[in-house]
Amino acid sequence: MKTVVITGGTDGMGAALARHYLRQGNQVTVVGRSRAKFDALVTALTAEGVPSIAERAHFIGADLSLVADSEAVVQQLKKRHERIDVLILAASFIRQKRHLTDEGHEASWVLFFISKYLFVTGLADRLAASTRPVILNTSVPGTKVNAIDFDDVESIEAFTFARSNARQRRANELLGILATRNPKVSYLTWGPSRLVRTSFAGDVGPVMKYASTLLGPLIGQEPDKAVQPLIALIADPPGGRTAYRGSKRVRLNEGPDDNHDLDRLAASVGNVNADK
Ligand SMILES: NC(=O)c1ccc[n+]([C@@H]2O[C@H](COP(=O)([O-])OP(=O)(O)OC[C@H]3O[C@@H](n4cnc5c(N)ncnc54)[C@H](OP(=O)(O)O)[C@@H]3O)[C@@H](O)[C@H]2O)c1
Repeated sequence: MKTVVITGGTDGMGAALARHYLRQGNQVTVVGRSRAKFDALVTALTAEGVPSIAERAHFIGADLSLVADSEAVVQQLKKRHERIDVLILAASFIRQKRHLTDEGHEASWVLFFISKYLFVTGLADRLAASTRPVILNTSVPGTKVNAIDFDDVESIEAFTFARSNARQRRANELLGILATRNPKVSYLTWGPSRLVRTSFAGDVGPVMKYASTLLGPLIGQEPDKAVQPLIALIADPPGGRTAYRGSKRVRLNEGPDDNHDLDRLAASVGNVNADK
C-alpha cells in the first residue's frame, strides 16, 4: 500500500488521481479548501463499492495561497505519515490580476511556487523513507531560463498574467534540482497534452472564462483520461528531474545559472519566512 498526498485533490485532475489511488487500495491524503468536495468524492467511491475508504481517505483543509497554512499542512502530514511515496502538487487557482493575500504576499506566487517549495523541502525526509519516491508537479514545463525577475519575484513592479505564469513554471523546474539532490527521488514537471475539462478554479477575465466554460466541454479531455499518462509515469518513475506533456517527454530548459538561480529562489522563500 502506497501513501499518496495530493494537493488540489478535491477537484479536476487531482480528484481523478485521488479516485484512482483510492480504488487501487492506497492511503490518500487530499489537501484542498472544500471539505464538501472531498466528502462527495468519498461518498461516490463508497457507493461504487470501493472498500475501506473511511480508513484510507483523509482530508486536510487549507488555503495554500497562505504561507502559514502551507507550513501547517506540512507539519500535519509529518505527524500523520512516516513515509510518503507519492507527492502530487496539483492545487490551482488562476488569477489574471495581481492579488495580495492577508499575509501581504502575491497569491499566485505563494500557491504555485512557495507552497510547493515548502512541501518539497518540508517533506524531504518522509519522501526519503520511500524506496522509490515520486514528486509530480503539475506545472507545465518549457519556459525561458530567464523568466524569473529575482529583484521582483512577487511582481510588485509589473504584473502580467503571462509573466507571473512563466515565473512560477520556471521556479518549479528549478525546484526539481533541489528535490533530486536525493538521487532516489523522481521529480516530474507535467502538463496535459491538451485542454482538460476541469473546474478551472480561478478569478479570470471573459476570454479565459469563455475558453474554460465553452471550449472545455467541447474539446476538453475528461480528467480521468488526462491523468492516465501520469498514472503510468508514477507507477514506473523515470528517475531524476524530467518534464512531460501528456505522455511525451519534453526537454528541460537548462541554463548556465540554474544552481545559482535555485539558491536565489531559496533565499526569497527564506525572506518570506523572515518577514513573518
Ligand atoms: N485543466 C487544464 O486544461 C490544465 C492545463 C494546463 C495545466 N493544468 C494544471 O493542472 C493542475 C490541475 O488543474 P485542474 O484544472 O485539474 O484544477 P481545478 O479543476 O481547477 O481544481 C483545482 C484544485 O485546486 C484546489 N485549490 C484551489 N485553490 C486552492 C487553495 N488556495 N488552497 C488549496 N487548494 C486550492 C481546488 O480545491 P478546492 O476547490 O477544495 O479549494 C481544486 O482541488 C494545475 O496545476 C493546473 O495549472 C491544467
